[in-house]
Amino acid sequence: MLVDGVDFYLDYNRAVVVLGESGCGKTTLAKAILRLLPRNVETYRGQVNLAGQDVMQLGDEEFRLNVRWAAISMVPQAAMNALNPVLRVGDQVLEPAIIHLGVKKADALKLALKMFQHVGVPADFINRYPFELSGGMRQRVAIAMALITSPSLIILDEPTSALDVLMQANIFNVLKRIKKELGTSFILITHDIATSSELADDVAIMYAGQIVETGDAMRFFPTPPHPYAQKLMASVPRLRGKKTLEFIVGQPPSLVGPPKGCRFASAITTASQDMFAPLPKTSGLD
Ligand SMILES: Nc1ncnc2c1ncn2[C@@H]1O[C@H](COP(=O)(O)OP(=O)(O)OP(=O)(O)O)[C@@H](O)[C@H]1O
Ligand SMILES: [Mg+2]
Repeated sequence: MLVDGVDFYLDYNRAVVVLGESGCGKTTLAKAILRLLPRNVETYRGQVNLAGQDVMQLGDEEFRLNVRWAAISMVPQAAMNALNPVLRVGDQVLEPAIIHLGVKKADALKLALKMFQHVGVPADFINRYPFELSGGMRQRVAIAMALITSPSLIILDEPTSALDVLMQANIFNVLKRIKKELGTSFILITHDIATSSELADDVAIMYAGQIVETGDAMRFFPTPPHPYAQKLMASVPRLRGKKTLEFIVGQPPSLVGPPKGCRFASAITTASQDMFAPLPKTSGLD
């Protein structure tokens, strides 16, 4: 099973940052929450409790109408490249308001302009096409689209990847302001440990399809308890102190028939066996 043993709690107006290496199942988790996985691979077991209601019990149509985008929206991975190139960004941002809030186009347009203001996109950009915007501005448009229905929870999948450090800081400032002004909760998936720590109230560490540790950010960042989380934190470059970055030898276990028990323990065992394995014989020419 690809994502398994995932259990975390997110309070109102809090942000949980989901950290973990590439391929550990972060996007799959996000898509599973919103029922966006392809039909041929999905197997849903467990609960997603939203304000006391297990939304996994809802039928697909009810979920589409009342949960997806209405209560939980998403800024998908590489969202800035997911905008429709032949539609003006304004028309794309207002669409969820028409579909999920049932408002007329003129009112949806007013809402879209309000969202642009929230995320710092100039009002006249509403008539532009995506290719007329920078990557950072397109990312903000994607966030505006996720905001327009006033969902209580927004899942952001790597919202600052492929942006320069200044724009990354800008986006995190926008998210912080939205959280403060609108009371939104966030599940923030990111590799940007340093910048995301600014927004994080809670941290969830994913490894090989499982959440191996959750905790309060203030306590987690200085002293992460799980060995994998310790390595993850030690891989962040710092201006002062230790200069050598740590890394994990070997590879995470296969998610097809993963080992029983702690998956990180088995990865370390395999890696240390690899390290002590005799080197292959060379031809002597290299
Ligand atoms: N539709 C799919 N069908 C089959 N395998 C998939 C599918 N989507 C994802 N996977 C596999 O599931 C695993 C987890 O993928 P996922 O996209 O969730 O990782 P991730 O943690 O988001 O990685 P990244 O940080 O690179 O975005 C990967 O091995 C991926 O190849
Ligand atoms: Mg991903």
